[in-house]
Amino acid sequence: MPRQFFVGGNFKMNPVSQEQKRALVKALNEADIDPSVEVVIAPPSIYLLPLKDLLRKEIKVSAQNCYFKANGAFTGEISPAQLVDAEIPYVILGHSERRTLFHETSELVAQKTKSALEAGLSVILCVGETLEERESGKTAQVVEAQLKPVVAAVSEQDWAKIVVAYEPVWAIGTGKVATSAQAQQAHADTRKFLAQAVSSAVAENTRIIYGGSVTAANCKELSTQPDVDGFLVGGASLKPEFVQIINSKR
Ligand code: G3P
Repeated sequence: MPRQFFVGGNFKMNPVSQEQKRALVKALNEADIDPSVEVVIAPPSIYLLPLKDLLRKEIKVSAQNCYFKANGAFTGEISPAQLVDAEIPYVILGHSERRTLFHETSELVAQKTKSALEAGLSVILCVGETLEERESGKTAQVVEAQLKPVVAAVSEQDWAKIVVAYEPVWAIGTGKVATSAQAQQAHADTRKFLAQAVSSAVAENTRIIYGGSVTAANCKELSTQPDVDGFLVGGASLKPEFVQIINSKR
């Protein structure tokens, strides 16, 4: 079975007003969207429930983070169980902004991934190298090191509910997109790693999406790469061009 194309919109800490939120919802609800694409919008937690209710049903909603505990004295955190109870199907984990600004280790990301899957969520698991790591030829090694704790923490079946987002740190929010050859190479290496570390079926079936300065102008070429199964879009997901990115396979 071919892997279903997946396009996520990571709103990060946006929008900043109810008015902006309404405009984003209106644009998405009125857009002509390719029905064969899985579309998932990740707003800040404060907008998860309103967006779930306001968006057309074929657009899913994702949290941008969660903790690994189910409940308790963890001020500022949100739990996988709370997301499941609110009928939020996805959570983004391991985003580079969480790894760098909030000091999340790959072990913590793996622990969160395991808890999220156990609670019944699907996970968009982000990995990716810095510019320095790429320039020293360590891209595959870095991605593998980020994935290894997850491989150790979850079962083979769990991978059916994981989408891997390859997001090179140097491409995030910089306007410097990976070339389609760079993205293809990193995705193919990641798939090869999954084949060795988990199984060939998981490698074949797991969607590996690309994130980092994806725009309407560069999405088509990236989408033609055999191992690029979609995108995780930051800045452009807040703009009208997001619809063109969703429809990049058309
Ligand atoms: O998660 C998406 C992301 O980090 C890419 O952001 O703004 O470069 O598309 P952006």
